[in-house]
Amino acid sequence: MKILAIETSCDDTSIAVIEARSKKGADFNILSDLVSSQIEIHKEWGGVYPTLAKREHQRNLTYVLKKALKESSLLKIKKASKVKGSKLKAINSILKREPELLKKLIPFFEKYEKPDIDLISVTIGPGLEPCLWVGINFAKALSYLFNIPVVGVNHIESHILVNLLNNKCLFPAVCLVVSGGHTQLILMKGIGKYKIIGETKDDAAGECFDKAAKILGLGYPGGPVISKNAEGNTTSEIKLPRPMIYSKDYDFSFSGLKTAVLYSWQEIKTSRRKKILKQMCYEIQEAIVDVLIKKTIKAAYDYKAKTIILGGGVSANERLRKQLKEKVRGEFQLLIPKKNLSTDNAVMAGISGFYQRSKKTPWRKLKAKANLRI
Ligand code: KG4
Ligand code: ZN
Repeated sequence: MKILAIETSCDDTSIAVIEARSKKGADFNILSDLVSSQIEIHKEWGGVYPTLAKREHQRNLTYVLKKALKESSLLKIKKASKVKGSKLKAINSILKREPELLKKLIPFFEKYEKPDIDLISVTIGPGLEPCLWVGINFAKALSYLFNIPVVGVNHIESHILVNLLNNKCLFPAVCLVVSGGHTQLILMKGIGKYKIIGETKDDAAGECFDKAAKILGLGYPGGPVISKNAEGNTTSEIKLPRPMIYSKDYDFSFSGLKTAVLYSWQEIKTSRRKKILKQMCYEIQEAIVDVLIKKTIKAAYDYKAKTIILGGGVSANERLRKQLKEKVRGEFQLLIPKKNLSTDNAVMAGISGFYQRSKKTPWRKLKAKANLRI
């Protein structure tokens, strides 16, 4: 079974083609995995600017699709034929809010044959609504024009299920999903069986990295740049709080940490800042990682989990990965995605689509759900 996956929930235009080699899952072949990042565009604004992101998705999608199909050896030129009549009318209606995308997709459809794809999988939420809609309308247009079934998937579930690329998971599992918009601890009793047992009361862990980096003048996105600056340090003269580390629940709070970064940074004389920047980055990373790990391991013991699953952009953090491996000490199965599959990508949406394949939706019914919960 070949799945074409589309993921545009934030600022990455991602398309992948994956092949499921077994009906049972946990055995996928990645035929292509493309991510067109908009970081350079959003850097100027210090964060993701939704209308700009929507425009970029419109501009990129057809090109990224073509490249993904080509890399998968699924792009075949046909005898050119015009899209006209009722088809043209329908496609105009599906993409009425994405005129730039429409302009690019029609010539694509006129030039290439229906690819050998069995299912289209597209992220419907959570995420930035204008961005989600571009991917969804693109999926609708492809589903309609090529007559391929489509399924809508949850971005958070995809961050979890990407760990099943080539692994079987022992249940129950405790999943820590840490991204720019989410920090959740999820009890997973099986695929599709989730319960949120804790989450952040305010900022997400990735958001804390991003906001702290902004305070320190390090630019966007904050996680990778703070992590880079933290490298090589082992101590810090600045001490930051570990919010809620000993609370009895599984919730988090990171906005106080961000404020603590702001106040301590303001107290440091400008002339000393350059010298102390790396220590500050080290301490921010330690504070975030300490809290995430403490709560995750506590949840894993309390719920008698067999597996700990990590997912979301922050799971690309080297310190988090290493510390978690050390602290788990082989007591739980530990599943961590490869770094390129930690941050947003479409492979994860493809894997999610595979497990949701019985829940195909008529393309007309697909809708963006910006606040979708797992
Ligand atoms: O999952 P993701 O790619 O997008 C969302 O769904 O939000 O996560 C993006 C977040 C950003 O906040 C970014 O700063 C963070 O992941 N991130 C990292 C690292 N790479 C990305 N945080 C810490 N260390 C990293 N290496
Ligand atoms: Zn994400």
